[in-house]
Amino acid sequence: MIKEALVILDFGSQYTQLIAKVIRSLKVHSVICPYHTPLESLRKDYEVQGIIFSGGPSSVYDEGAFDVDVEYFKADIPILGICYGMQLIAYKKGGKVETSGHKEYGAAEIYLQKRDSLLFKGVPEKICVWMSHGDHVSKVPEGFSEVASSLDCLASMEDEANKIYSLQFHPEVSHSEYGKEILSNFLFDICKLKSNWTTASFIEESVREIRKQVGHKKVLLALSGGVDSMTAAFLLYKAIGKQLVCIFVDNGLLRKDEGVEVQTKIGKLSLNDHFIFLKTDAFLKALKGVVDPEAKRKVIGKVFIEVFNEKAKSIKDLGSNYFLAQGTLYPDVIESVSVKGPSDTIKTHHNRAKEVLDMMKEGRLIEPLKELFKDEVRLIAKDLGLDDEFVHRQPFPGPGLAVRILGEVTEERIKILQEADSIVREEVKKTDLQKRLWQYFAVLLPIKAVGVVGDNRTYGDVVALRFVSSVDGMTADYEILPKDVLTKIMSRITGEVKGVARVVLDITSKPPATIEWE
Ligand code: XMP
Repeated sequence: MIKEALVILDFGSQYTQLIAKVIRSLKVHSVICPYHTPLESLRKDYEVQGIIFSGGPSSVYDEGAFDVDVEYFKADIPILGICYGMQLIAYKKGGKVETSGHKEYGAAEIYLQKRDSLLFKGVPEKICVWMSHGDHVSKVPEGFSEVASSLDCLASMEDEANKIYSLQFHPEVSHSEYGKEILSNFLFDICKLKSNWTTASFIEESVREIRKQVGHKKVLLALSGGVDSMTAAFLLYKAIGKQLVCIFVDNGLLRKDEGVEVQTKIGKLSLNDHFIFLKTDAFLKALKGVVDPEAKRKVIGKVFIEVFNEKAKSIKDLGSNYFLAQGTLYPDVIESVSVKGPSDTIKTHHNRAKEVLDMMKEGRLIEPLKELFKDEVRLIAKDLGLDDEFVHRQPFPGPGLAVRILGEVTEERIKILQEADSIVREEVKKTDLQKRLWQYFAVLLPIKAVGVVGDNRTYGDVVALRFVSSVDGMTADYEILPKDVLTKIMSRITGEVKGVARVVLDITSKPPATIEWE
């Protein structure tokens, strides 16, 4: 089914995901696509009701500056350009863009000149907004009128007749007063979109699409026991029932007792009949001698597909033309791709391994959650009837403890980290901090430090503790736990985990760090 959608063309702004989130909070369906996506290809999947050109780091005058398919301007679809998006519109339409001597960054007051602009409906004459730009529009193109200005630059221009609107500032950033109202005016008054994105509509639509895509074939899903893959499993089960086969791979890189725990939990669920448990040492063997974080991720992704495919061969009636399903979320995709610039590849998530991309090219990959953020998936999980324990589980990365063991991953080091991590989880569980924390875990560092026990010198491992809060994993803040909880964790780890001499605390937010250490 062709879905009504607002399309966000991503020119590389750090705020693109925020635009999508604000739009979803207004209950409108939106998709983010690389800036070079042709309109024609979008129309195969979506009824495009409105387009937003995001901001971006380049200047329209840069060599190889990100350009846009001219068809967007001919299509009679409302356009809103934000920051670079506004400059691109001015440049393409024959206006003038100038590079200022200084970059305007931060809060700025803007004054509304065109009081009847539909985009600014209900917005006061003077508001404070968030600016972040070097270039600005110094002359509007023919047919456009000036709508608002700051002391330094033109803040908004529009061509009402052709439904082209633009803003030099970022309405999606919470520091911009009336930002949500401005976006809401664009969606509802200008694009005439409907406010109908709910978890129930998402489930209904996904079920319909999965059925259409899969037909009578089988679907293999890699279940990790986390909320993403469990939600994907429930959604697929609702759509295709017994055509779904779930495989849980215990790769030897899981948290202490996790394999058994997941098995027990799955045992209680209706998915039980469609569940295969697989324990293997293939990952540890392949990781021997590998220390580079990206190399580790690639090795794990590759072995996973090999192990998975091998198992698949033994499943009766599967045939060769089955589908692979994953509980991939939007942040997994965005941090793994680089569309020549807009977002740099931060780390290759395991569900973007080459072999998975090959399945994608063949049209055999199903990722029903790939446009969502974790907080939205938790809502869907709840709607699908997953119990609270699953819904609120802390995220755990696909490559498991391998990306929390800096340096070589050996059986001995895994054991140390499993014990330390289990203490962290136990102690946090005893408090009511769990709800506030997005993740709480231990990391094993590739260095040793000196300690003293009794009268003896020790020289042992260093474990780092990471406690973070986050809404969606895209950004995160470190959290400091009360001193008595930290002390308990420290004394238990140094006392109970053999070989650990020191415990340190990670107080880095994301950005500049990522949540996981590798
Ligand atoms: P980073 O470390 O990129 O993590 O700030 C953001 C969130 O994603 C989780 N994460 C992963 N999840 N496969 C996953 O399914 C991965 O390869 C992966 N790497 C990181 C991480 O735990 C955090 O919640």
